[in-house]
Amino acid sequence: MNIAIAGTGYVGLVAGVCFADKGYHVTCVDVDEKKVAMMKEGISPIFEEGLEELIKKNNQAGTLHFTTDYREAYRFADAIFIGVGTPELPDGSANLSYIASVSRQIAETIEKDCLVVVKSTVPVGTNDKVEQFIKDFLVNDVKVSVASNPEFLAQGTAVHDTFNAARIIIGTESKEAEALLLKIYEPFNLPIVSVKRRSAEMIKYACNDFLALKISYMNEIANLCELVGADITDVAEGMRFDERIGSRFLNAGIGFGGSCFPKDTKALDYLAQNHGYKLKTVEACVSVNERQKTRLFEKAKKRMITFDGLKVAVLGLAFKAGTDDMREAPAADNLRLLLAQGADVIAYDPKAISRAQFEFPAGSYSNGTISYADDPLEALSGANICFIFTEWPEIISITPDKYKEKMHTPLVYDGRNICDPNAMRAAGIEYYSIGR
Ligand code: UDX
Ligand code: UDX
Repeated sequence: MNIAIAGTGYVGLVAGVCFADKGYHVTCVDVDEKKVAMMKEGISPIFEEGLEELIKKNNQAGTLHFTTDYREAYRFADAIFIGVGTPELPDGSANLSYIASVSRQIAETIEKDCLVVVKSTVPVGTNDKVEQFIKDFLVNDVKVSVASNPEFLAQGTAVHDTFNAARIIIGTESKEAEALLLKIYEPFNLPIVSVKRRSAEMIKYACNDFLALKISYMNEIANLCELVGADITDVAEGMRFDERIGSRFLNAGIGFGGSCFPKDTKALDYLAQNHGYKLKTVEACVSVNERQKTRLFEKAKKRMITFDGLKVAVLGLAFKAGTDDMREAPAADNLRLLLAQGADVIAYDPKAISRAQFEFPAGSYSNGTISYADDPLEALSGANICFIFTEWPEIISITPDKYKEKMHTPLVYDGRNICDPNAMRAAGIEYYSIGR
């Protein structure tokens, strides 16, 4: 079976590599020549546990190919998976222009019957439009159908999540499309939920937004804990034993980031509005998250006369541990504020520094400055304040005495609740976290 993948971001690349590992002949297409050249050499353009090894292995096995030439990939494909991005537009809606351009390329190239599978997160009803669009522009006399197959992998554990998914969702409108997708996923041996196309599209948003809501809810409970003298860690511990609530995604902190929750909450809200419905829960989730991202900064601002000329250690830049991705990372909102207030930031992250430098190149800004440290202790050295934004093991393992020893003034704002408040205070550190 020939499988083509359009777009080699987190979703497309991981899917392509995992299909190749199951023995399918896979060709991944991307418009980015530099990325394609890297992947041909067996280098992963993103940091993802286990991915580079699998790229190398399947490159060598001859099952995995990379190209910028979509014609070569699509022409004789049995199935084409679309994994191009669907970023947020300024009004909150999803940008479908990449999906459209790939659809058009597919229509103009395919020379045999083909199943097009949309893996990207798209508003409900988009698959219908993709199918019509491809049919409208079809050049050759071939049969094409479109299926929805939303992706649930989380960054940092993407390969593991693909091979061990809780379930595969497939949304189809024909028996043939359903049968082919079931066959493709057979070697994965995972539970499969087969539904109508529009339901599949909705499942993706319903899941992501539910998890985002769960986080915003915990963040609000944490904020209330601070006001009433309760501890959110204890509260979460008491909640997680209830199977109806579930034990995960109960960590309060500086809000969610990444390439999915922020855009998928806004996109569902937009979709609802478009249908004359007000999605109040999701709307609240978005605004709670906005406020939460800078809560610690606001707290620190009340404590300080000024940030101007202060040395600020920032520990963690990625939107979560295990990834080098900084899309919508709460750290970025805070960096902007700190630099605008004249802080001299020295930032550490084990993986995300090179990405961070795209938006925040080392050097002087109108008020503050930013530089990067290879080691967290180097960032702490001589600092007046420290902000913790990502829960990397390298940051969790810093002991209270190190903060005390290295910092000029031991003042720590922990956005991930990774330090023990009692141990920090016992070591002589002025310590603030979320909801404790
Ligand atoms: C994905 C999904 O597709 C998105 O809908 C989901 O909600 C989150 O995950 P991601 O894999 O993170 O996005 O996307 P990104 O890292 O932006 O990668 C997309 C890739 O497609 C890029 O490598 C880009 O160069 C490529 N691309 C984009 C094409 O090859 N053709 C295009 O026309 C546009
Ligand atoms: C998410 C979904 O989990 C995944 O199923 C979907 O396919 C894509 O979006 P991802 O964005 O990679 O995956 O990361 P995730 O682990 O879900 O975390 C998202 C954000 O929520 C991060 O900023 C994380 O720090 C935050 N988070 C998560 C919390 O603040 N508290 C938690 O308890 C869990």
